[in-house]
Amino acid sequence: MPDSLIDFRLTQEPFYQSIHNEIELFESAFARRLPILIKGPTGCGKTRFVQYMAWRLKRPLVTVVCYEDLSVADLVGRWLLDANATQWQDGPLSQAARYGAICYLDEFVEARANTTVAIHSLTDTRRQLVLTACNQTVSAHPDFQLVVSYNPSVLSEEIRPATRQRFCALNFSYPTLEIETKIVAEESGLDTVRAHQVTHFGVSTRRLQGLGLEEGASTRMLVGAASLVVQGLSLHSACRMAIVDALTDVIPIHQALMLSLDAAF
Ligand SMILES: Nc1ncnc2c1ncn2[C@@H]1O[C@H](COP(=O)(O)OP(=O)(O)OP(=O)(O)O)[C@@H](O)[C@H]1O
Ligand SMILES: [Mg+2]
Repeated sequence: MPDSLIDFRLTQEPFYQSIHNEIELFESAFARRLPILIKGPTGCGKTRFVQYMAWRLKRPLVTVVCYEDLSVADLVGRWLLDANATQWQDGPLSQAARYGAICYLDEFVEARANTTVAIHSLTDTRRQLVLTACNQTVSAHPDFQLVVSYNPSVLSEEIRPATRQRFCALNFSYPTLEIETKIVAEESGLDTVRAHQVTHFGVSTRRLQGLGLEEGASTRMLVGAASLVVQGLSLHSACRMAIVDALTDVIPIHQALMLSLDAAF
């Protein structure tokens, strides 16, 4: 039988630095096929973690990035008209449920509540997806697993209790300076000494969170800055370009960040 999810299989192990016991927790939830909700600030490793777990559990990974206008049809599928006939085309959620993938709905809170309701029958004991438009009910493959993630500090609609209570949750945050330095060094190729300097500066920006800065520099930003250093920029120029100038347009906050950058490098 052809592998319907061949395009969704990870062929290489993604680099993932574990932070606490999240790998073990995910594996326990996966063993019982409990839907998992991952929350944490931007660029802290949520997506990378899901990719790593899919690779580790040897499951294909079907990812959907949610947005406000995402429709139920975008998730479950629609009829398509070709030259001769109309044919049903599964959406990513139906495909994952039918053939046993991990379905990852990223930025979950961006989707409207009446769209996310489509997952309800899949995420309780029924484990079924009702395709009303083609009058079919798909019973989920035993390996099917649903994972969603979002950033709770982004102001958007709350998740309804009836949706939220279908999930168990993993709370992500930025790791310790030591672990984050390791991630920055590994991802960028920068030596540990300078990766530590970049990370130390990046972490200091997080103190301005809530004081005019919505969020401090993410691990993603630190990796970006470190990559610019590998490219030949000085620590000062790289951190200015990838962190300070990118983080804010608010003049007093930018000035405060510049002072701290000048002091650091
Ligand atoms: N624990 C980690 N192990 C390896 N790389 C990491 C880790 N945490 C963060 N990173 C690095 O940070 C980058 C951003 O991580 P990722 O895309 O997973 O963030 P995210 O939490 O999904 O952010 P967003 O909410 O903005 O989508 C990754 O591409 C990787 O370089
Ligand atoms: Mg992400």
